Amino acid sequence: MGSKAAIGIYGLGTMGSALALNMAEKGIAVAVSNREVEWIAPFIEAAGPLAARLHPHDTLGEFVAGLERPRIVLFMIPSGAPMEAMLGEIVPLLSPGDIVIDGGNADFHDTRRRAACLSERGLHLVGLGVSGGAAGARHGPSMMVGGSPEAWARIAPILTAIAARHDGAPCVAHVGPDGAGHFVKTVHNGIEYADMQLIAELYGLMRAGCALAPAQIAEVFARWNAGTLRSFLLEVTAEVLAAQDPRTGQPMVDVIADAAEQKGTGRWTVIEALRLGQSASIIEAAVGARAWSAEKETRQAAEALLGGAPGAIAADAGTLAEAFAAARMLAYAQGFRILAAASEEYGWALDLAQIARIWRAGCIIRADMLDEIAGAFAAGAPRGELILVPAIARALAARLPALRQVVAEAVQAGHAAPALCAALAWLDTMRHGHGTAALIQAQRDRFGHHGFARRGQAGQHHGPWWD
Ligand code: 6PG
Repeated sequence: MGSKAAIGIYGLGTMGSALALNMAEKGIAVAVSNREVEWIAPFIEAAGPLAARLHPHDTLGEFVAGLERPRIVLFMIPSGAPMEAMLGEIVPLLSPGDIVIDGGNADFHDTRRRAACLSERGLHLVGLGVSGGAAGARHGPSMMVGGSPEAWARIAPILTAIAARHDGAPCVAHVGPDGAGHFVKTVHNGIEYADMQLIAELYGLMRAGCALAPAQIAEVFARWNAGTLRSFLLEVTAEVLAAQDPRTGQPMVDVIADAAEQKGTGRWTVIEALRLGQSASIIEAAVGARAWSAEKETRQAAEALLGGAPGAIAADAGTLAEAFAAARMLAYAQGFRILAAASEEYGWALDLAQIARIWRAGCIIRADMLDEIAGAFAAGAPRGELILVPAIARALAARLPALRQVVAEAVQAGHAAPALCAALAWLDTMRHGHGTAALIQAQRDRFGHHGFARRGQAGQHHGPWWD
């Protein structure tokens, strides 16, 4: 019994092997296995002294038999069909009370369905959002747990031991039942897309609009990162922009094809936002920009017909920084709006302050700003809206002229800046208590007899065009 492992990790790719080493380092005995059996021995060999706590198994049966009961099995494999197939294989080997954790970037609808299915057999399915890439998994990821309170009580000691820490507080939390953890991770990634796109647009403005070289732009981002804008994404951006291609001596960014890939979580964020009656326009702009970037041939053909290099802009680095600070806060605010809407729709009771707190270290979107966001939610942001928090609203108002100047100059000079534009458009929309939707309602009634509410009067009304 004593020689059994506390947890099993199936899937020894980058993330699975890093998590296994992280756990072993924290003194946890981990059973490991992998579909491609030939990956197992080299992994154990490379683990050095940590191998003493890693129990390798070639077959699923031995792997399951090597676990303490009730068992905890963490799958770190691709989330779609492979996860579905592995559930089919492992469920017959498990007993009531056992816990299966899906640590991939799964669609939360799948997680909800799978959790319901496993619970019929007395099994717990935990949807675990893991962020931080390979380094995070190895030395401390941020983790968003969705599952039953019983499952959380069992897995909490292990996950707490391996989590990233912010001022000593572990960046892991039980955010809600079944799909809640994967949903929160999906929105994390949506925000990640928006943050990356905003940084890429500012890079484009500095490169083509201010004629700065990549190394100079790296210095600007590094400077921003040394101040209140500090974030992991700014840090890595400064690093990659400073890098040179060892083969050609050119800036690394100039030898990389400008066609971005995506695995789907950004798109899911937008889809779920729309389903929830929300609009995550800054995240949508980022997802759309990736899709357009991949349409390389169309862009090249269009350049021949419609092109023209973008012109110079006058905004200085300070103004660009202010614009970034505003747009990034708006992107995070849109992400949290989606979380608030999903929490209501699915009855999850998400604690937005807690989510902001576990994003402060370990994850890709970690940023000093999340401290302020966590504080705002803890103090009770009105309707879960960050833009209604007085201190945040004041900062946005102060930075609005910079955001407007940057967007105006970008538009005027012909730079593509869809995320910056979306941020400004959303803020300008929300800043006006009175908009133009009355005309939309009149149009709907005119062509479809849809009816409208009159100002200050209940009930359905129609316009004189129907008299
Ligand atoms: C993380 C990341 C990670 C994601 C990559 C790539 O939190 O560690 O979000 O989960 O897979 O960032 O995502 P895309 O391929 O969709 O860009």
